[in-house]
Amino acid sequence: MSKEINILNSNKEDIKDAESLKQLEFINKAKEYVSSMEKELGRKLTACVVTFGCQMNARDSEKLVAILKLAGYEESDSENADFVIYNTCTVRDNADQRVLGRLGQCGSYKKKNPHMKIAICGCMMQEQSSVEKIQKSYRFVDLIFGTHNIYKFAELLCTCLESDRMIIDIWKDTDKIVEDLPVLRKYPFKSGVNIMFGCNNFCTYCIVPYVRGRERSRSPKEIIRECEKLVADGVKEVMLLGQNVNSYGNDFKEDDPNRITFPQLIEEVCKVDGLERVRFMTPHPKDFSDELLDVIARNSKIARHIHLPLQSGNTEILRRMNRKYTKDDYLNLVYKIREKLPEVAITTDIIVGFPGETAADVDDTIDVVKKAQFDNAFTFIYSKRTGTPAAGFDNQVPENEVKENFDRLLKVVQETARSQSEKLSGKTESVLVEGVNEHDTTLLTGRLSNNTLVHFAGDESLIGNIIDVTLDECHGFYFMGHRA
Ligand code: 5AD
Ligand code: SF4
Repeated sequence: MSKEINILNSNKEDIKDAESLKQLEFINKAKEYVSSMEKELGRKLTACVVTFGCQMNARDSEKLVAILKLAGYEESDSENADFVIYNTCTVRDNADQRVLGRLGQCGSYKKKNPHMKIAICGCMMQEQSSVEKIQKSYRFVDLIFGTHNIYKFAELLCTCLESDRMIIDIWKDTDKIVEDLPVLRKYPFKSGVNIMFGCNNFCTYCIVPYVRGRERSRSPKEIIRECEKLVADGVKEVMLLGQNVNSYGNDFKEDDPNRITFPQLIEEVCKVDGLERVRFMTPHPKDFSDELLDVIARNSKIARHIHLPLQSGNTEILRRMNRKYTKDDYLNLVYKIREKLPEVAITTDIIVGFPGETAADVDDTIDVVKKAQFDNAFTFIYSKRTGTPAAGFDNQVPENEVKENFDRLLKVVQETARSQSEKLSGKTESVLVEGVNEHDTTLLTGRLSNNTLVHFAGDESLIGNIIDVTLDECHGFYFMGHRA
């Protein structure tokens, strides 16, 4: 649940974008509905936002929370609330299944609370088959919208509060970027900042280009303005977000004065006074430039962490994934990073079980893991997504084979991650204190610049500060430490 009350961009004076001003009017209208329902029921109304998936969705949810709060709802962690919204992910089938499970449960709450409104939005709703499933089997849902019109949430909320019918508003695509929507951050001291939306890469297994549309970059001025506002509001660390941050700005016209590259943008962001750490997610290996490495090398504010999705270590599988690099291209890039920036942690994403993948192909992936010495890797079992080219490929791999390969890979991933982490043992590093440890409240949890987690004894008042911590004991992917 968000702790702070301060909602960025809730004042008309701050807002330049006409669409945002319109949405602010809808928030006021929603507020009237909420307050009259409060009078009718004799109690406050609650709202719960449930987020699935990536950092982009997390950031979108912060906007949903802000609008609901401004409309007068109290935020709740429980789905037994007066307004519940699921912000969905569809990158793998298990994400879809989890959403539907939770939605079913929510339907049973609604039977006991007839005032309840249930909404569902995000990537899964950009797929027609999912919307049809909700229309058919989850009739109790009140509002469905997609990724392209999330900026209209206040307006859709009003429509939903006015009507007893299921409201569905899905757009195929958009070229619109709406600035200045209200947002309520989950953490007061760190924030995601979208620099672009959509993806043009069409990796053959991936649904994202179909549900998030084509690449659209925000103007550098707006990005810097947002970072400055965030800093003024107490933020120390930003994460620049995009599906392929290296192609930032490619969609601007040649003669557009806004046209700058990602390395130029990140360097500008580093100049924002008071900002202490800058992260970015996700770069595509095919577009990772020497210019970016130089910028990281000369800007100590840029976090010592590069997430560089590998997907597979086999060149033929990579070709069929449409990744546009070979095993050697990838390894050479890793060697270059390790040479130029030895303190940088490299993490990755790997898919096992892509159509036609053999045990020998997985050996290539394991070979890359060993040679690259990843600091961490997220390993996924291939999930067939309807509408993607790979869904139609021959030779879908049987489940038991996938499982065997997956386990073999995971073992090596864990070994390399541990041996990489252990290298930090005994060192003192600067740590952004993120919160009280969930399992032991005498401990605090923080993150190193290279993204490693550390738990150490300390007082809650340190949360949001960057302090020095000595890393005593390595426990695989996290450390126990003490304040230096
Ligand atoms: N099946 C399994 N994993 C997938 N990813 C994307 N699409 C799929 C899929 N169809 C993984 C990729 C990507 C991460 C965000 O999700 O590894 O980098
Ligand atoms: Fe999906 Fe590939 Fe785009 Fe990443 S780069 S979002 S994996 S299509």
